[in-house]
Amino acid sequence: MSENTPETTTEETVSEDLKARKEKKLIRRRNFAWACIWSFLGVNCLMALRFFFPRILFEPKTSFRIGYPSDFGFGVDTRFQQEHRIWVVRNTQGIFVIFAKCTHLGCTPDWVESENKFKCPCHGSGYDTEGINFEGPAPRPMDRAGVQLDAEGQIVVDTSTLFQCPPGAPCRFGEDGSIIKI
Ligand code: FES
Repeated sequence: MSENTPETTTEETVSEDLKARKEKKLIRRRNFAWACIWSFLGVNCLMALRFFFPRILFEPKTSFRIGYPSDFGFGVDTRFQQEHRIWVVRNTQGIFVIFAKCTHLGCTPDWVESENKFKCPCHGSGYDTEGINFEGPAPRPMDRAGVQLDAEGQIVVDTSTLFQCPPGAPCRFGEDGSIIKI
């Protein structure tokens, strides 16, 4: 009996070690399982929250006021190019608004004051101060946006109404709503 005691003790120690290791393994597995469950729930919660914030594209307004006719001197006014993609032009006939979109493939031309023309950076189309094409591949003048005076006498521009002047078709540039005659 006394001979067996050390062996028994060693066996017991080994089996306790195994037990402890098994327990640790079990705890690790359990933790991993919980981590998976919480991650799954977390992702689902985020997806549910995302549902309450739909993806909305905020487009700029198509109808807006730009000021009084007296705010515009003769020539090309580039103040609204960045915000509204337009140029306001005043000449002897009145005030009209050019929609800043090249009629070739839709790039935004630049106003080149030193050359007194609009120049498209994409394929080189050139337009005069009234937006009439005279060089490059652009097939027609740039379109003009609708303009009218509101009750206060301010100019209201409507870029959802565009007046075109295509070759071989009636030119709409002189129509009511395309120019404010002064
Ligand atoms: S898009 Fe302007 S010239 Fe081509």
